[in-house]
Amino acid sequence: HSRMTSELKTVYVTRPDVASVGIELLKTESNVSSWSEPLPVPRDELLRQVVGKNAIYCALTDKIDAEVIERAGPQLKCIATISVGYEHIDIAECKKRGIRVGYTPDVLTDATAELTVALLLATSRRLFEANKEVYNGGWKSWAPNWMCGQGLKGTRVGLFGFGRIGQEIAARIVSFKPSLLTYTARSEHVAEAAKVNAQRVRFDEMLCKSDFIIVCCALTPETKEVFNASAFEKMKPNAIFINTARGGVVDQPALCAALKERRILGAGLDVTTPEPLPLDEPLLKLDNVVILPHIGSADVNTRTEMSRITALNILAALKGEKMIAEVSV
Ligand code: DGY
Repeated sequence: HSRMTSELKTVYVTRPDVASVGIELLKTESNVSSWSEPLPVPRDELLRQVVGKNAIYCALTDKIDAEVIERAGPQLKCIATISVGYEHIDIAECKKRGIRVGYTPDVLTDATAELTVALLLATSRRLFEANKEVYNGGWKSWAPNWMCGQGLKGTRVGLFGFGRIGQEIAARIVSFKPSLLTYTARSEHVAEAAKVNAQRVRFDEMLCKSDFIIVCCALTPETKEVFNASAFEKMKPNAIFINTARGGVVDQPALCAALKERRILGAGLDVTTPEPLPLDEPLLKLDNVVILPHIGSADVNTRTEMSRITALNILAALKGEKMIAEVSV
């Protein structure tokens, strides 16, 4: 009762929240101001609004760089993002200033793995191409060779990255009976690999031998554009490339060229550069690519949990307590 509103910590929320779960939670213990439009907050508005705030609740559509952090001021104690990826936040700058960073791993792992499998099957079995034919008159008759794709059974599947999401994708892929599951990763993951009978291989071996390659790594300086012209060059002509991680892992013009010249069979992308893709993007002209608008974690329960955790991360940090998920800076 004795606490006055003015004594409450202040939080700026850059996105209207999923079903307001996070905002309602924040409001119980802090003074919340929020951007309220569906599109991302414009940069100049962000720079104005963060001034004097104790915490920022952001999303991957907001670039939280040194300028934003500097503008906020020394009372800024926490930045929490409603995502597992945090490459949009300047972590080094946060470390320098003792700002704690929250994120939302784990809760979105299953939703993202599900979407990855959905996208893989939609790409390999040509679901969107086939669906169009139903509406445009292209469906003339059942025919033995029509709309044939490539099944998963008996194929070699490579996972680029074998963290939480990669392991859950692997667990789902097993039920489709591939001949071999492989992965590349910085650490060995011996026990996790044994569960799904996966083999760790070198990147080059994965490129040369896989029928499916699935990107499920974080975007870091090491993974930036590793899928470049020389990588696509090494892939099999029947290779299908799936990316639900980050567009930045791919040299997109090189992927586009490989698809256009049919040097690989197809691609399924939930992430691109930039997002959204402009309507004149060359990838949109190809029939062997399936593109989704970054919906990997877009399941209502998952997003509600992400919102709740983002808010709880902030409230914990403002009290100097243990956050649910804190980036080790
Ligand atoms: C993330 O969390 O990083 C995804 O890209 C959005 O859920």
